[in-house]
Amino acid sequence: MHLATRLDKLPPYLFVDITKRIAELRARGEDIISFAIGDPDLPTPSHIIEYMCQAAHDPVNHRYPETKGLPELHQAIADWYEKRFGVMLNPDKEVLPLIGSKEGIGHTALCFIEPGDIALVTDPSYPVYSMSTILAGGEAYFMPLKEDHDFLPDLDIIPDKVISKAKLMWLNYPNNPTGATASLDFFEQAAHFGQEHDLAVCHDAPYTEVFFDGHKPPSFLQAPGAKEVGVEFHSLSKTYHMSGWRIGMAVGNAEMVDALFRVKSNLDSGIPQAIQRAAIEALHGSQDCITEHNAILQRRRDKMIKVLNEIGLKARIPEAAFYIWAKVPPGYTSMDFTKKLLDEAGIAVTPGIGYGREGEGYIRLSLTLSDDRLNQGINRLSAWHRSV
Ligand SMILES: Cc1ncc(COP(=O)(O)O)c(C=O)c1O
Repeated sequence: MHLATRLDKLPPYLFVDITKRIAELRARGEDIISFAIGDPDLPTPSHIIEYMCQAAHDPVNHRYPETKGLPELHQAIADWYEKRFGVMLNPDKEVLPLIGSKEGIGHTALCFIEPGDIALVTDPSYPVYSMSTILAGGEAYFMPLKEDHDFLPDLDIIPDKVISKAKLMWLNYPNNPTGATASLDFFEQAAHFGQEHDLAVCHDAPYTEVFFDGHKPPSFLQAPGAKEVGVEFHSLSKTYHMSGWRIGMAVGNAEMVDALFRVKSNLDSGIPQAIQRAAIEALHGSQDCITEHNAILQRRRDKMIKVLNEIGLKARIPEAAFYIWAKVPPGYTSMDFTKKLLDEAGIAVTPGIGYGREGEGYIRLSLTLSDDRLNQGINRLSAWHRSV
């Protein structure tokens, strides 16, 4: 058997050691509290589930779905974008439902990247942007996100020789892992950059509905010129706690949406229709669950920030997304400190290095565990700190 050499180009999975260690400790009966997983712990709201159950009983939904998705779902997505962001979308040409946004993000590389091409990717970042670039035969150029630059890339310092090979730029705000947000001014600058250099701008925005203190994050598509050069990826995973159902969307530039559809229509057979129906209910139905979820997450954020301050781990207070990006103490790498927390406190976090070189010196803590477990974790962190 000969595996394709492109697989050799994928970097080793950096969390291997940590994942193994967690499994070993758990097998020994240790109670590990994990702040490592970015997956909403609260259930999908019941009105959405009820709708999905009804749809699951209807034989119409037992057959292959259309790859393109139900027209009513296209319309619901367009309505939601108009209501939430004031962005007008043509439901037929500027909207494409996805099997979770990760699927669409991964397939986007096949639309733009040829061997030798470059995708501009932020560092740190969600790994799929660079991995899909590599799988398509291209190369990622990493744009550092620095804390003193509010975790926004400095587009002015990207070398001309890189820009000349770049076909695609990936941005993600509210940001995983830093929790940073971007202003409309920054999005306008990014859209202008895409126009000036004739490259596609992809904004990954699954966290716009997870926000605190009333700071509602904008959509990239609100920026003047954005739709001429870009698409936005969105998801029902974090907004409606539907990560297990796998549904998201790409919206924006009609040519880019069509290119993605052409790739997808040759590779997948769409989203199960009962799940599409549930998504329509989520988007058209009451949005109260978003306010409720955010109030819970904000309380968790405040508790976690307080304990991190008390034990000397500096972290910015995130305005959005459910992550805290905290600095590790001097003298430790992010991996060393992650192992120390695991072994000495039974607390699992994600080492920043897993998100790119610029993630070194940080750990990411996700707030997606129950209040009880979070409180236990906080007590453990305090006790551990008193003991060292
Ligand atoms: C930045 C970012 N983009 C995309 C995704 C994928 O979300 P989905 O569940 O829609 O595939 C995640 C999931 O954690 C994420 O953090």
